[in-house]
Amino acid sequence: MEEEVLGKAYDSRLMGRLLTYMRPYRGAIMVSLVFLLVNSVLQILGPLLTKIAIDRFLVPSGTPTLTTPIDPLLSSDRWTGLAQVAGIYLLVILAALLMEFGQTYLMQRTGQYAMFDLRREVMAHLQKLDIAFFDKNPVGRLVTRVTTDIDVLNDLFSSGLVTILGDVLVLSFIVAAMFRLSPGMTLLLLAVMPLVVLATILFRRSVQNSYRRIRVAIAKINAYLQEHVNGMAVLQLFNRERKSAEEFDRINREHMQAFKDSIFAYGWFYPVVEFLGMLSLALLLAYGGLRIIEGALTLGILVAFFQYGMRFFRPIQDLSEKYNILQSAMAASERVFRLLDTAPRVVSPPSPRPVSRAPLDIEFDHVWFAYKDEDWVLRDVSFRIAPGETIALVGHTGAGKTTITNLLLRFYDVQRGSIRIGGSGIRELDLHELRSQFGIVLQDPYLFSGTLAENIRLGTAGIADETLAAAMEQVNLKDLVERLPEGLQHSIRERGADLSTGQKQLLSFARALAHDPRVLILDEATSSVDTETELRIRAALGRLVAGRTSIVIAHRLSTIQRADRILVMHKGQLRETGTHQELLALRGIYWKLYQLQYKDQEIRIPEPLVPRESLELRT
Ligand SMILES: Nc1ncnc2c1ncn2[C@@H]1O[C@H](COP(=O)(O)OP(=O)(O)OP(=O)(O)O)[C@@H](O)[C@H]1O
Ligand SMILES: [Mg+2]
Repeated sequence: MEEEVLGKAYDSRLMGRLLTYMRPYRGAIMVSLVFLLVNSVLQILGPLLTKIAIDRFLVPSGTPTLTTPIDPLLSSDRWTGLAQVAGIYLLVILAALLMEFGQTYLMQRTGQYAMFDLRREVMAHLQKLDIAFFDKNPVGRLVTRVTTDIDVLNDLFSSGLVTILGDVLVLSFIVAAMFRLSPGMTLLLLAVMPLVVLATILFRRSVQNSYRRIRVAIAKINAYLQEHVNGMAVLQLFNRERKSAEEFDRINREHMQAFKDSIFAYGWFYPVVEFLGMLSLALLLAYGGLRIIEGALTLGILVAFFQYGMRFFRPIQDLSEKYNILQSAMAASERVFRLLDTAPRVVSPPSPRPVSRAPLDIEFDHVWFAYKDEDWVLRDVSFRIAPGETIALVGHTGAGKTTITNLLLRFYDVQRGSIRIGGSGIRELDLHELRSQFGIVLQDPYLFSGTLAENIRLGTAGIADETLAAAMEQVNLKDLVERLPEGLQHSIRERGADLSTGQKQLLSFARALAHDPRVLILDEATSSVDTETELRIRAALGRLVAGRTSIVIAHRLSTIQRADRILVMHKGQLRETGTHQELLALRGIYWKLYQLQYKDQEIRIPEPLVPRESLELRT
């Protein structure tokens, strides 16, 4: 699983590429960095002000005996001084508040903008990838790329990078300020650092491991849910609820266990660092107190050191946490970039030929095709469909009929041989232009959430309302539309879940009709509709295929008898070609298929089974 890979915490190549997403927002980032810098400086001012207040106004003699009586004559001066220091302190913390707000707001906003751009790029790239890619990559995984992975990067952009910089700045400023006040005490404070570093390394190792397990578990949960929610009806039908709940429990437990381990590490880490911090403060108290008694140090400096000490350990704790963000972000960006770097294998040529304006013919020339390796699905298939001709494709399930249409639309590229349309090889044409020649009613119609009208137009401009209405009427959906309160503006749910399969087929049919394509492909277009509707559609079809190159795939042979020619596919090969009567006379595969379908009826050759008018494919 890709989620398992966890590489370096910092990879300059990946980071460089990530930073290109920040480039458009460099103005905001610069301002935010200035805020950050000012804020870091403000952070060290507080203790300094405290020192001034104590040494100048509280213990002015410099002799740190708290019992020294305060000279009443001087007390008003001291009061003014204290008030001034307190006033400055207030200004400092107010300024720090503004800086922090400005910096956080700008960086979070930049992070969101950058993620917006990245998501858009991933989606645009997904749309360009060939269908073979989607055969190999489950939906769950791709969804994870666009959501979880990009969210991790957002953490990096909006808080990670900047807070790391902020923490480092604050730490170095504090050390510098402390060093100026008292080098000896600074070294004492730093003496516990090796222990802190050790604790951090141990913590990181343990958390890193549980983080990886958490990520793997989440990916598994996503995939499992996706599959089982989609298949809920089958799951319930076969009473698999208990079994499925048990399987889910196992994955869910992995996730919880991994999380528990990480909580354990967190539970230890923070108190330990806290303890080390307090330990160093205790050392400071003892050592600093001694120096004060010796008269080598003022009380103000000791108090300031205490304050620095408190601020010193928080950034260290934060840094170890940021390390995890950095590492997850590197791994996530590696996965996202790998997706972005997957080159689509089916692309338009650099200088495509225009599609011929003349009526289109289609030619398969010794085509060999396999979805995988050398598992040939089509073997040496050759045929030509003349302009305006209607051909029918028949054959057993799995014979390769849908595959032929997939190849024609260039969802996949053939391994051997070539396919030509209007005299040009389909690889020489612009993909978009090639596909816009076709109207297709798929075996497995797909609808998007949206209104009925949107589903028929699919964003194509210039389809008038009348055309839409006529298309609905032709496919017998007028009644359905009239029954709906909003008519064509009725919203259908995701994947058309609130429509019957037959209705979906009819909508998909109306889609093809409304687009008025030059080549029409019907793949089992009416397999799920009742006989009356089918007859109606066949009449509409008669008008539709007139003058248009068409391919009709059907198992119900009654549907295709009127085609100009019938191609019989068998195990990936084109075995028979001819008209209905010719093929029956041949007494081959077609004849057998026909006999099987109508064995209970007397085979009336050459009379069609339904009245000629409604069967008429061509007018
Ligand atoms: N995306 C795919 N990846 C791998 N193999 C596939 C894929 N689609 C189809 N096949 C295989 O290719 C063969 C031909 O499938 P195809 O869909 O062309 O059959 P068909 O003639 O349309 O059948 P049906 O009448 O059931 O629709 C089948 O053996 C099938 O298993
Ligand atoms: Mg098929």
